[in-house]
Amino acid sequence: MPFESLRDLIDVLEEKGQLIRVKTSVDPDLEVAEIMRRLMYAKDKPAVLFENVKGYTIPILGNTFGSKERLGIALEEDDFSHIGNRIVELTRMKMPTGVFGKLKMLPKLSEISDYGPKHIDNGPVKEVVLTEEKADLSTLPILRSFKGDAGRFITFGLTVTKHPDTEVTNMGVYRMQIINSKKAIMHWQIHKRGAQHLEILKDRRSQNESEGYKDRRIAAAVVIGADPATTFSAVAPVPEGMDKYLFSGIVRKKGIKLVKCNTVDLEVPANAEIVLEGYVDPDDIQIEGPFGDHTGYYTPPEPYPSFNLTCISRRKNPIYLTTVVGKPILEDAYIGQVIERSFLPLIQMFQPEVIDFSMPPAAWFQGLAIISIKKRYPGQAKKVMMGLWGMGQLSLTKMFITVDHDINVHDMDEVLWAMTTRTDPKRDLIFIENAPTDSLDPSSPLLNLGSKVGIDATTKWQQEGFNREIQVLAEVDEETQRYVGKRWHEYGFS
Ligand SMILES: Cc1cc2nc3c(=O)[nH]c(=O)nc-3n(C[C@H](O)[C@H](O)[C@H](O)COP(=O)(O)O)c2cc1C
Repeated sequence: MPFESLRDLIDVLEEKGQLIRVKTSVDPDLEVAEIMRRLMYAKDKPAVLFENVKGYTIPILGNTFGSKERLGIALEEDDFSHIGNRIVELTRMKMPTGVFGKLKMLPKLSEISDYGPKHIDNGPVKEVVLTEEKADLSTLPILRSFKGDAGRFITFGLTVTKHPDTEVTNMGVYRMQIINSKKAIMHWQIHKRGAQHLEILKDRRSQNESEGYKDRRIAAAVVIGADPATTFSAVAPVPEGMDKYLFSGIVRKKGIKLVKCNTVDLEVPANAEIVLEGYVDPDDIQIEGPFGDHTGYYTPPEPYPSFNLTCISRRKNPIYLTTVVGKPILEDAYIGQVIERSFLPLIQMFQPEVIDFSMPPAAWFQGLAIISIKKRYPGQAKKVMMGLWGMGQLSLTKMFITVDHDINVHDMDEVLWAMTTRTDPKRDLIFIENAPTDSLDPSSPLLNLGSKVGIDATTKWQQEGFNREIQVLAEVDEETQRYVGKRWHEYGFS
C-alpha cells in the first residue's frame, strides 16, 4: 500500500532505524540547517525530526529523502526506472506514431488510467483553517540556512498552479523568502511552469485591460509535507502537458486524494500537513535573495513576484517538512538521482539509441550530463545531444558528454578515459552560444543565458573524418585470462 501521508512515512522510517528524534531545543535560525548539513555530509545518517523548536509548537522534519535507501522506502521502488516505464507503457496504449502523436497523447492519460486523483470533500489538512488576520506565516518554523541569506526561506513547499487555458495542474518546488506574516517572494525561475502559468495569465488579462480587468494575480497553493510520491512529483521534470497529480498517482500506483482549497480555486492533497493559499502578484515585484544555493554559492538578489497569503489550512498538530541546500552533495542530490533513473525510459522513448544516462550530483544536475549510445551512423552523438537540449529541463544542461555503450556513464574514470582517447577537441566539440542556462549557474555570462558544450567522446569512424588507421583496444585474450584465473591461488593471492 502506498504512503497516504508524510507521517505514515515517518512511522516506517522510524521502524527501520532511518529516523532520529531530537528532543533538545534547537533554533530554526541557522542551527537546524547546520545540523542537517553536517548529517548529510557525513553520509548514511538518518532523517531527523526536531521536536523542540525554539519559539514554535510545530516540529521540523529534515533529511527525509537523504539516501537512496530512504527514497526506495518512500517511493516503494528498488528500481526507479519502473516509474518511467509505467509512463512509457501508458503512452503506448494507443500506439500513436511519431513524437508529436506521443506528446499529444500525454494529457489524455488521466482519463485512461487508474492513477488519476480522487476528489473528496474533506481531509486532515482541513482540521484547522485560518483566514484573514489568523493566517500568519510567522507561526511556521521556517529556517534561515546561512548567515548571508536574505532571511528565512520555505525550501520544500510544493507550489500548485493551474495552466490558465488547459487547467492542467502543475506543482513545482520553488523556494519562498518570507517578507512578513502575509507575504513571501515566489522564486519560480523563468523556465519553470509556475512562471509560465503566470505569464500566460498576464497576457490573457492584459488583453482584457481595456474592459477594466486589471487583476493579473494567479492563484497558488503551497503544500508543505505531502505523501512522498507527491513531493517527488513536484521536483520531477514531467513531460509538458502532464498533470502532476496524475504523475504522483503513476509514481505510487494509486491516485491521490484531493480536497478543494478554502480561498482559491485549486485542489491540494487531502492528507497534507500544511497548505498556504494565496495569489502570486506580477504587479508586486520584490527583490529575492541572496540565498546560499545548491551550486555552493550565494545566488545574488534578483526580482521575483510576491506570494500573498489568504489562508493557512493544516492538521491540528502539523509537521513542517524542510530541506537545506548548499555545496553538493546534500539531500537534493539523492532526489536528483531518482529523477535520473526514473526518466531514463522517457529519454529512450524520444532518443532510442540512448543506453544510459547520468547526471553527476557534484555537477548540481544542470551542470553536466553523460549519455551512452549505441552508434549506428556518423554524427549520431551530436544528434542525441541536440535532441536532449530540446527536451524540457534538459535544455538547461550546460555540458553533455556522449560516450559509446561500452562505457559506464556512472564511472568517471571510464568517462574520462573515453573522453581523452576518443575525442579530438576541434573535431568533436560543439558549442552553442547564447542559449538558456539555469538561473543558478554562477558562471554564465548573463543571467539565464550562456554557452553550452557537447563533447562527442564516441569512437570515431572513417565517415566521421577519422582517416588514420583505427587503433584496436588492447584487451587480454580469453586463453590468458582463463589460465591466470585458474592459477590465481597458486600465486598466493586471495
Ligand atoms: C530542494 C529544492 C529546491 C528547489 N528550488 C527551486 C526554486 O527555488 N526555483 C525553481 O525554479 N526551481 C527550484 N527547484 C527545482 C524545481 O522544483 C524543478 O525544476 C521542478 O521540476 C520544477 O517543476 P516545473 O517544471 O513543473 O516548474 C528546486 C528543487 C529542489 C529539490
